[in-house]
Amino acid sequence: MSTDTPFDRATPPLPDPSAAYWQAAAATYDDEPDHGLGDPAVRAAWAARLRAWLPAAPGDVLDLGCGTGSLALLATEQGHRVTGVDRSPAMLARARTKLAGRPATFVVGDAAQPPVGERRFDAVLVRHVLWALPDPSAALHHWAALLAPGGRLVLVEGRWGESAPMGLTAAELTALTAPLASRTELIPLSGDPTLWGREVSDERYAVVAHVAARRGA
Ligand SMILES: C[S@@+](CC[C@H](N)C(=O)[O-])C[C@H]1O[C@@H](n2cnc3c(N)ncnc32)[C@H](O)[C@@H]1O
Repeated sequence: MSTDTPFDRATPPLPDPSAAYWQAAAATYDDEPDHGLGDPAVRAAWAARLRAWLPAAPGDVLDLGCGTGSLALLATEQGHRVTGVDRSPAMLARARTKLAGRPATFVVGDAAQPPVGERRFDAVLVRHVLWALPDPSAALHHWAALLAPGGRLVLVEGRWGESAPMGLTAAELTALTAPLASRTELIPLSGDPTLWGREVSDERYAVVAHVAARRGA
């Protein structure tokens, strides 16, 4: 059985969610198929998923814990403008290089309280970050308040590993988004090996939560 996690397998097996961990991981982060999207088939698979999850019309996307910007790049290729937030300057340096010349800006900050002022977004995109935040429920409430009317949360998460599983189950995450959403889509992703560059046996999924009205943080 696979015990792979969304983390770089060349780094220590028990990820430390500290900023220092991600600073050190930035140099090799894109080596994983689903991180760097270097394999055209993996890249195409994520592009197709993102196109289905993000708004059809070009809009403003806030990518929180954006890492090296692989999903941000796909979003700009689909016509969106991206603001990426990450607390790792090393990750952001790679994102800025990857998206040079594209409609994207990157700022250092906390994903739970992104430094975006009064700006509002058509989608908040978060892959493999929410589970590690100290208070996922509070973060989700804050993110919902950052959405423009009709906006959506696009959350890609999972529960990885078997002996010491980490992450959020789909049931746990949909329970957290239920009070915020007028409509929620749960998309299982474990059965699509192209997304991961290999077969996986743990729970991987996306949740698209459509938030009807702006809510207080
Ligand atoms: C598993 S990586 C995911 C990167 C990217 N979302 C992706 O899917 O490729 C986790 C990222 O979240 C960032 N991160 C973790 N906790 C954070 C926080 N509290 N605020 C901002 N960024 C955070 C890390 O620096 C790292 O770049």
